[in-house]
Amino acid sequence: MRATVDRAGLDPQGRLPKIQVRRVRKGDLSKVRDVFEQTFGDFLERQLGTRPRQAFGGAQYVHHRWLMEPWGCFVAEEDNAKIVGAALAVTWGTVGILGPVAVLTNYQNQTIGQQLIRASQGFFEENKAALHGCVTYPTSPKHLFLFHKFGYRPKALTAVMSRAIDRTPPRAAVAKPAKAVLAVRRFSSLEETKKKATLARMHRITNGICRGMDLSKEIEIVDGLALGDTLLLERGRDLVGFAVYHTPGVSEAPSGALYVKFLAIDPPQRKVEHLTEFVSALETLAQELGMQRVIFPVYSRYWLAYNTLVQCGYQIDFTMIRMQRGRQEDYEDPTHLVLDDWR
Ligand SMILES: CC(C)(COP(=O)(O)OP(=O)(O)OC[C@H]1O[C@@H](n2cnc3c(N)ncnc32)[C@H](O)[C@@H]1OP(=O)(O)O)[C@@H](O)C(=O)NCCC(=O)NCCS
Repeated sequence: MRATVDRAGLDPQGRLPKIQVRRVRKGDLSKVRDVFEQTFGDFLERQLGTRPRQAFGGAQYVHHRWLMEPWGCFVAEEDNAKIVGAALAVTWGTVGILGPVAVLTNYQNQTIGQQLIRASQGFFEENKAALHGCVTYPTSPKHLFLFHKFGYRPKALTAVMSRAIDRTPPRAAVAKPAKAVLAVRRFSSLEETKKKATLARMHRITNGICRGMDLSKEIEIVDGLALGDTLLLERGRDLVGFAVYHTPGVSEAPSGALYVKFLAIDPPQRKVEHLTEFVSALETLAQELGMQRVIFPVYSRYWLAYNTLVQCGYQIDFTMIRMQRGRQEDYEDPTHLVLDDWR
């Protein structure tokens, strides 16, 4: 007698389930969050040999991303009843960022992941994203194979770096120059009428880093939902740089950490001192907010930025590899002072 396959995802006759990929609805949000937690929990348990209590250390991805980009969020649903996979995608102007993508462990290797990625690609095409990117696990043959099928090439490593700030005084107190020429201001403190013009100034900076890149939606959702804030680095009336950060709660910041999702220094004004001063300001802010850690992601092609973080005492928590399709090289200047996360 043949053994029956005791595996969710196959019906009692061993047939593949009927899967439909559709856009996320409001009522799906907590289920989607559970799918991510469960799937990444399983994956990390296999990698690490022990299951983390929370797959993302308390960071959340679903609710605010859906509010920000509802047309970029997809689920795979079995028999119109059970959500078995999900993919989120956003556009930063002409740059499309894919992820997280997850398919419940018992439903994997049945092409559901590919159906979700295909839907996200469709969304990028509808929105004319010229460069599509994601990050994935560099040592996983499956992940590299899967993204290769969609034309994504492995690029360089992204390091997620952090520094504990709980017992040491903020670096700013130690290293602040006698006469600081730069000042910081929070985007949320601006009058509503000034915000639009400031978004345009930030767009000018990102456009100088990668043609067409625009983080306005990220900045507005962080402001609108108070997920954190955007810190503006200014010299007089000039915007020298900005950093979009999240604080713990319902944001992408893990518990106890101030998480910088995107930081850029205006390319024509790039100086390592500006970055170190900005890092110090963010550490001071984190300490004022009672955080124990500051997290910065850095793409290693931005070599000067990576080096600077190492000099500032940051250590690598983990690495992922950036994958990319579409427009390839023109934005990767190793001297640009950019810290960005494509997770
Ligand atoms: C990554 C993930 C979303 C893929 O979903 P999935 O439904 O299993 O993927 P699919 O079945 O559509 O495609 C997997 C492909 O990889 C292939 N594959 C599987 N293991 C492989 C291996 N060791 N080497 C090479 N290819 C492999 C499969 O054969 C399949 O290709 P095929 O259809 O041409 O045969 C899923 O594994 C997952 O949720 N993993 C945990 C969370 C995660 O890592 N998310 C992605 C972060 S970037």
